[in-house]
Amino acid sequence: MSIVSHTSAKPSHYNKEAQNYDAFNEEHAATINKCIEEIFKKHQIKTVLDLTCGTGLQVFWLVKQGFEVIGSDINAEMLKIAKKKAEQKKVNIKFIKGNMCTTQAGKFDAVITIFNSIGHLTKQDFEKAIQNIHTNLVFHGLYVFDIFNLHYLLEGDNITKLTIDWLKKCGDAISREIQYSTISHNGILASYDIYHEQKGIEKLKISSSFQTLQVYSREQLKKMLENNGFKVLKQCDIDGSKFYDNKTERILTLAKKQ
Ligand SMILES: C[S@@+](CC[C@H](N)C(=O)[O-])C[C@H]1O[C@@H](n2cnc3c(N)ncnc32)[C@H](O)[C@@H]1O
Repeated sequence: MSIVSHTSAKPSHYNKEAQNYDAFNEEHAATINKCIEEIFKKHQIKTVLDLTCGTGLQVFWLVKQGFEVIGSDINAEMLKIAKKKAEQKKVNIKFIKGNMCTTQAGKFDAVITIFNSIGHLTKQDFEKAIQNIHTNLVFHGLYVFDIFNLHYLLEGDNITKLTIDWLKKCGDAISREIQYSTISHNGILASYDIYHEQKGIEKLKISSSFQTLQVYSREQLKKMLENNGFKVLKQCDIDGSKFYDNKTERILTLAKKQ
């Protein structure tokens, strides 16, 4: 298999996806959101900074549960949708545009970057992001994030289990996304997408895209966090259940600032 290179995503990376993002992702977010909520309740977290908030799938969930949350993201289109949703829901939430490697928003009890968001960074930039997250946390504050598990994706034909074929209907509009992925030993997950969009009897629009994510093993994450001032408290599945190197698709990591 050829080696694919990976660079940190550009701010515009989600421009095309933003409009249909919630239709494809909202219902999948509930599992990890419930788990984060439980962790935060257990650790008596009050204030949260979501550094990759996107359209706000964690922000709105956590605000509804009574947490004080600020949302930040590098993509203006995703933020526009998050702000519109806040208006519609009549909730007052601060959203800021920024890069998770550099954004300074204050001192929080917890910082989150959910749904493989750190995969958009190179390893070097993720190290910068960890250092930046450290400065956004109070002493003993928590950093919670998830990422695909490299061991799982390399095992057998598990990579084919990431293949998706999603179809959503909204009124007379139909959107379909078909995606398959490859994984290399250095943790570069490459995904190839085809989109079909049709509104009523208008001409069918077909487009394609390609993206890479840097994924990690549990030990790699632990080492990077420990080298940058964190103690890893827990690594589990995204629903909080026990983690298995070869069976668990995504790693949820809970680390404490030292
Ligand atoms: C898969 S989405 C996840 C959004 C949200 N957390 C969720 O669960 O729906 C990844 C998000 O990370 C953001 N992102 C990528 N690189 C970033 C960076 N360097 N700094 C801040 N946000 C970034 C993207 O713009 C996108 O909104």
